[in-house]
Amino acid sequence: MKALYFDHFGDNSVLQYGDLPVPQITADEVLVKMKYIGLNFADIYRRKGNYHLEPHLPYINGYEGLGTIVKLGENVTELKCGERILFVDVPLANAELVAVPLTHVIKVPPEIDDKLAAAIGLQGLTADFLAHDLAQSQPGERAFIQGISGGVGQILLQMLTADGIQVSGVTSTRKKQELAFKQGASHVYLRTDQWAEQLCDTFATVFDGVGSTLKQSLALAKHKGQVVFFGMAGGNPTKVDPLALLEHSKSILTGDLWDYLSSRSERQSRFERLASYFISQKIVINEPQCFPLSEGQKAYAFLESGSSNGKILMECR
Ligand SMILES: NC(=O)c1ccc[n+]([C@@H]2O[C@H](COP(=O)([O-])OP(=O)(O)OC[C@H]3O[C@@H](n4cnc5c(N)ncnc54)[C@H](OP(=O)(O)O)[C@@H]3O)[C@@H](O)[C@H]2O)c1
Repeated sequence: MKALYFDHFGDNSVLQYGDLPVPQITADEVLVKMKYIGLNFADIYRRKGNYHLEPHLPYINGYEGLGTIVKLGENVTELKCGERILFVDVPLANAELVAVPLTHVIKVPPEIDDKLAAAIGLQGLTADFLAHDLAQSQPGERAFIQGISGGVGQILLQMLTADGIQVSGVTSTRKKQELAFKQGASHVYLRTDQWAEQLCDTFATVFDGVGSTLKQSLALAKHKGQVVFFGMAGGNPTKVDPLALLEHSKSILTGDLWDYLSSRSERQSRFERLASYFISQKIVINEPQCFPLSEGQKAYAFLESGSSNGKILMECR
């Protein structure tokens, strides 16, 4: 099979496309022929050697995608060859064929097409756990999103809005600002402006997946408010003094989606909750940007350039 792989950590030039052996499945796994593979910020951390990565020689990045079952392990009785499935936490996914444990299989409702399902898998389930497990904002509350027009940001904005929360945020360009307004944001600031100094409002919840902005996020949270810290797309945060949090009764909540995906039914019910927002058109996202897997280097470079305003997928043709 063809795969995108690397044998040492580094910049984009370490990625190679070529032939590797087909994965062997166990009795509790299915073999999936991939159609779309999702690319995420974490794949860049992994390629650089800064994040947990499945031991494998050579390394194969990627943990999410959509495809068709082509082989069943002997204990798998509830699935059939030819069924389409999605997964968001299975290693070695930058490849034409992936061994997927039955516990990690997500069935996609028929109303959601292949490209949309692949585009919303990890970012959508992340937005869902940030909103519903961590923040648990109540209707009428006000929230702020750092990186409101990123992949997670766009879904989170529309999900919170549909849940009755008033959402503001910050982004980098006028085009992304317009998009966030269209998606329901009440105030959208431009990163290049001196917006934070002029802002008098504070928020019950501030969502921060940018990282380098954590100190600012804490300042934007009101007394008894919370910051939901979930990533470092803009760089590592500076250290936080717990006494400063105590003084204003502020909290930092944090978490990794994978700790919340603890069983097959947990994965399936969370995806169905997410899909319901898309089926009812409460969330609409930009068309994902697709690159052939053979041009995976270009896909990684595009993500790293910061020019994307939606999901990046690699396609097996
Ligand atoms: N905790 C979890 O379980 C979990 C799961 C999935 C993802 N994540 C994290 O979620 C974050 C967002 O992921 P994503 O897939 O949505 O990525 P994405 O689509 O590439 O979005 C990245 C966002 O970060 C913003 N950003 C990047 N560099 C910045 C900087 N220097 N200053 C301010 N803002 C900056 C971008 O703002 P502009 O669009 O305005 O440029 C964009 O909104 C990442 O940190 C990722 O690691 C966490």
